[in-house]
Amino acid sequence: MDKQNIIDMLNKNRANELIAILQYMNHYYRVTGQDFLSLRNLFKELGIVEMQHAEKLAERISTLGGQPISKTQAISQFTDLTVNEADNMHEMIDANLDYEQRAINDYSEHIQMIGDNDPVTRNILEDILGQEEEHAHDLSSWLGKRDISFKLRAVGE
Ligand SMILES: [Fe+2]
Ligand SMILES: [Fe+2]
Repeated sequence: MDKQNIIDMLNKNRANELIAILQYMNHYYRVTGQDFLSLRNLFKELGIVEMQHAEKLAERISTLGGQPISKTQAISQFTDLTVNEADNMHEMIDANLDYEQRAINDYSEHIQMIGDNDPVTRNILEDILGQEEEHAHDLSSWLGKRDISFKLRAVGE
């Protein structure tokens, strides 16, 4: 795995994060219902963390000598995700849980692919992965579920 592979991998993660920011903010502005206030704040809080992830990825891409993607055309080349415009709060939670599951899978895969090739990048992705798992936990806890929907991978699997 060379540096360009790692830069492309990070830009793929970044594209997904940029979509996540838009989705959380879309749901933040549009959520209605009896739990409006708590859910609104949760979406905003998670959206801000996704923004920090996009920023950390951009900083690492720059350090490695790459260009962090920012244009809409480039974003769509790096991800097939689109913003889900759910109509009710349960659909919103489900859409965001789907996103978090996808993020957990992608980060886990990229961490394994990087292995010992770039410990600094791997540490950054591991920190982000920990926060994505917290997000999945926050969303499923909000639904009253104790069991988080994602499966933890065994080391080396
Ligand atoms: Fe994220
Ligand atoms: Fe997240």
